[in-house]
Amino acid sequence: TFQTIDDLESAQRLLVRIDVNAPVEDGVVQDNRRFARHAETIAELLEDGHAVAVLAHQGRPGRDTFVTLEGHAEVLADHLGREVEYVPDTYGDEALAAVRDLESGDVLVLENTRMCEEELPEADPEVKAETEFVRTLAPEFDAYVNDAYSAAHRSHASLVGFPLVMDAYAGRVMETEYTANSAIREREFDGTVTMVLGGTKAEDLIPVIERVDDTVDRFCLGGIVGELFLRADGHDVGYDVDGTAFFDHQWDDHRETIERVLSEYGDRLLLAEDLSYEDESGERAEIAVEEIEKDTSYLDVGSDTADRYADLVRESEAVFVKGALGVFEDERFATGTVEVLSAIADTDCFSVVGGGDTARAVGMYGLEESDFSHVSVAGGAYVRALTGEELIGVDVLERAA
Ligand code: 3PG
Repeated sequence: TFQTIDDLESAQRLLVRIDVNAPVEDGVVQDNRRFARHAETIAELLEDGHAVAVLAHQGRPGRDTFVTLEGHAEVLADHLGREVEYVPDTYGDEALAAVRDLESGDVLVLENTRMCEEELPEADPEVKAETEFVRTLAPEFDAYVNDAYSAAHRSHASLVGFPLVMDAYAGRVMETEYTANSAIREREFDGTVTMVLGGTKAEDLIPVIERVDDTVDRFCLGGIVGELFLRADGHDVGYDVDGTAFFDHQWDDHRETIERVLSEYGDRLLLAEDLSYEDESGERAEIAVEEIEKDTSYLDVGSDTADRYADLVRESEAVFVKGALGVFEDERFATGTVEVLSAIADTDCFSVVGGGDTARAVGMYGLEESDFSHVSVAGGAYVRALTGEELIGVDVLERAA
């Protein structure tokens, strides 16, 4: 077990790692539940008289979501109802000067950690603890707080380096997510357990299907991952029609695994029977998977699939959702995601909805968080926790204690 912010002495200088990795539209970061949750932790720390310097990442180099944290500081300021300084530097002279100016009750946001070379390549915590990044910032603070549960599966400098060289504590988000997600793994269900898997991250979802063993009775697939499985099942889908090569890469990287998983777990995997796309007049149109055409971009599961998945959810004792079934940000293609979430909200099943983006659909379509057992702000970390895989970021906090 780890220490939490309840164990902090008052009025400390704190380095607080949060995870507000968020969707970015036209270069503008979009508010999401992570901001609200982390703002609660930060507000509590400020009330206790601490001075807070925030570390966070956004996107990955090479992606268009890889932007500075200037917008994030503004969104945090809105949630906190107070000024949040943005510092366009992570551990250089400008950052150190700003950090040294911090006073009790102040909060600043340092630059995107992934803009630092030492942050990203996964390495052992011992290696990360030796980076300039960690060695430069650590002496400036009394303690490190990790609130970034949703990034706790990444062995990156800002997540695993600091707990080895200074006092380290779990923030509120880290604490509640960890507690809820461990309870899921420890609980036994008599009835059917259903997992709804979608979204874009095949590399995250495939190992889950393989490692979740007997815990899950059936998987309802959608999103890009669902399309890749449909393609492995012999349907003409999962191709790049927009020239981004996104599907091509996923297919090249995961084809063999997907084919193997499909043959080994086929009886537990449910694939879409129809898909939805935008027709020439800009309307939502649907097509049965047997009639699918290679040069169309599919944006949601079809209505028959949505109905079928929703029915299965209603028969389940527990449902875990990770990833959206379609591009729900566009109302026309929200049918699959919203129908399944609504079915869960209407029943008494034990339910966990995870995935930064997916959880956003809950608020966007008028569903209440209280209608679910737990709405996680985590994606990859949540599914890893579910399968019993250790989270390195949690492990180092435990070691620090
Ligand atoms: C997330 O958004 O799930 C976490 O911030 C981790 O981001 P990553 O998948 O880019 O490492």
